[in-house]
Amino acid sequence: QDRPRVLSGIQPTSGSFHLGNYLGAVRQWVDLQEANDAFYMVVDLHAITVPQDPAVLRENTRVSVAQLLGAGLDPERCTLFVQSHVPEHAQLGWVMNCFTGFGEASRMTQFKDKSAKQGSDTTTVGLFTYPVLMVADVLLYQADAVPVGEDQRQHLELTRDLAERFNTRFAPTFTIPKPYILKETAKIMDLQDPGAKMSKSAASPKGLINLLDDAKASAKKFKSAVTDTDTVVSYDEEKKPGVANLLRIHSALSGQSVDQLVAHFEGKMYGALKTELAELFTEWVAPFQERTQGYLADPAELDRVLARGAEKAREVASVTLETVYDRIGL
Ligand code: ADP
Ligand code: NA
Repeated sequence: QDRPRVLSGIQPTSGSFHLGNYLGAVRQWVDLQEANDAFYMVVDLHAITVPQDPAVLRENTRVSVAQLLGAGLDPERCTLFVQSHVPEHAQLGWVMNCFTGFGEASRMTQFKDKSAKQGSDTTTVGLFTYPVLMVADVLLYQADAVPVGEDQRQHLELTRDLAERFNTRFAPTFTIPKPYILKETAKIMDLQDPGAKMSKSAASPKGLINLLDDAKASAKKFKSAVTDTDTVVSYDEEKKPGVANLLRIHSALSGQSVDQLVAHFEGKMYGALKTELAELFTEWVAPFQERTQGYLADPAELDRVLARGAEKAREVASVTLETVYDRIGL
């Protein structure tokens, strides 16, 4: 293996990806497929940790794959697959469950947040062990780097801890992976509540930019984004989180630095920033939507891509699982 190995996944849960998913993760996936041996997957096993309608889940998984292709993943340059098509994920997930402390798993803040919202009677054991399945996802491919948003940092630390524990107790088996988190786009905030990360469970739909929504509706959301009572466009994450978020999104889409943008908007009001951002997004999203629809219109091609992806993924995953089984006496 000459090129570094990269692995990441995204849930199919909501059908459309949101702008945080794209800028925080998927855009890096596209860049990293060039110089790395990259494995990317739609994590449907993670999705069933909360209730799903089977037909909707199946459709959302395909829509997710189409969006990844629409965003620029090239199945000739990366391995693109669906998690449940590779049974080694569930198999290694179980093994890693047996090497994870209950207290250790109990410290995962994303579980605490999500289960607090759901209540203990509807929270599944699957949701509790979700981070451990993610550990298996990464370790199966001997990944060197995992491109994710800031919210996944703790799960990556768990992955590193478990890999080191296993390697020490048995023999060197797993590569210790590093998180690949770009500071500027690691945490895209809700447009209506810039104190909270953009998420599919947004309190107000106006705060959430879904990539497959009508572009005119998204443009309106940018124009009504919550800012502050000041009028000067400057970058201050603490005092002006709304404006800072808009500047970071603009910078990511336009390629201009935040400093360049602040200079560019000197003497202009927030409205100018919002209008420009709405235009930038609309320009980017139109071809993205068109490409995504194109892939959805060709189900046979999508099936072919996924079958080939699962085959390539299993070639790597099965070797790791066999080694693990052998090391622990299975
Ligand atoms: P969600 O967090 O919306 O439930 P996923 O868990 O499927 O979606 O996350 C897919 C990827 O998107 C992960 O790498 C995650 O860190 C990233 N991500 C999610 N929300 C944001 C956000 N607001 N800003 C930056 N990255 C994000
Ligand atoms: Na997430």
